[in-house]
Amino acid sequence: MPGPGMEWIGEEEKKAVLEVVESGYLGRYGPEDDPKFLAKVYQLEQEFARRCGVRHAVAVNSGTSALLAALAALGVGPGDEVIVPGYTFIASMSAVVFSRAVPVLAEVDKTLNLDPRDVESKVTSRTKAILAVHMLGNPARLEELKAIADRHGLLLVEDCCQAAGATYRGKPVGSFGAVGCFSFNIYKTITAGDGGMMVTDDEETYRRAFAFHDQGHSPHRKGVEVGRRPFIGLDFRMTELTAAVALAQLAKMDRIVARLRETKRALKSALAGLPGVEFREITDPDGEIATLLTIFLPDEASARAVAADLGTKVVADSGWHVYSNMEHILEKRTATPQGCPFNCSSHPTSVKYRKGMLPQTDALLSRAINLSVGVSDPGLGSAFGVTIHSDRGEVERVAARMREVVTRVVGGGRDC
Ligand SMILES: Cc1ncc(COP(=O)(O)O)c(C=O)c1O
Repeated sequence: MPGPGMEWIGEEEKKAVLEVVESGYLGRYGPEDDPKFLAKVYQLEQEFARRCGVRHAVAVNSGTSALLAALAALGVGPGDEVIVPGYTFIASMSAVVFSRAVPVLAEVDKTLNLDPRDVESKVTSRTKAILAVHMLGNPARLEELKAIADRHGLLLVEDCCQAAGATYRGKPVGSFGAVGCFSFNIYKTITAGDGGMMVTDDEETYRRAFAFHDQGHSPHRKGVEVGRRPFIGLDFRMTELTAAVALAQLAKMDRIVARLRETKRALKSALAGLPGVEFREITDPDGEIATLLTIFLPDEASARAVAADLGTKVVADSGWHVYSNMEHILEKRTATPQGCPFNCSSHPTSVKYRKGMLPQTDALLSRAINLSVGVSDPGLGSAFGVTIHSDRGEVERVAARMREVVTRVVGGGRDC
């Protein structure tokens, strides 16, 4: 069970893939007048945009590609700074670097998403965008971040890769910012093995993202030339096979999220009131997708002891998601020796990175443990933590073990 969607792969996905194979059209373009052409990529884009409550979507081959297309579409580039959280998957930063802009790292708060106060303090004359990541399925403080973006004339980019299906105050994530980016890799709410989606309500942003994802072309379905190309693009196209699986999964998304929420609710209530345990702050309990329950222990020592006893890690030790473990970012290790964008005439004031530069983030993550309701990582590289399969018996077993371990380590009487 790498991610929730994987658990639901079944007959529907198999049938959809077979239909595409039999259609003879494996790529996204085909003749509209051939009934055999199923236009799955196009259908997925339409359906995904509709579910996000926006007008446009561009299907791509990964969440990273969605971020790259988004930043290119918004004109983020050399000389620009993008504020990103210190707790996120590396792609939120690498997409900025490959746009030749500079990521500026900001603190997370008890939501484990961007801390708006720290974001505002990091705005400079070079800041172009705030990249809000909805980590572990929990929407960031979107209202505050949008207000900061508006106050300073910045773009809000939503990295929704870990939060497909989430809403904030009743509105789907991805519809608050200038763009929203999603991933369909195997750890996500819905999966097609890999794949991604960029959504936007803005026509021009859509046209630019489409051009970027396919050699500068205009949005169209037939693969023929339509008009002039606005700029040089690349190839991040999604295949019909991927879209077939993603569409079948999308039809299951509400059921997937409902089951995650039910499991998490049961786990949370089984652990409620346990001395020494504080839950991660959830910005909108009705809107999160409930893939994980993150708990804070009173201090690093007790968190490490509890984690060791449970056979997991504290979140600070997650190799993939914590800035202080991203040696290639800290050392600004780029593929070419020139070091662009860090060492670049369009960005002369070099941004500095070092371990310990985000003390609030470090302190929170060092006493945090994830209990995984719907995402697991057998190698533990991501510190997804203790895995709970979605039947009720397992929730009770894990909760009982947690109570026993926490009470022994923390001593039963302390509160956070
Ligand atoms: C927050 C976040 N952003 C971006 C990505 C990149 O998505 P992909 O792996 O599909 O490129 C991921 C994937 O794990 C992610 O978790």
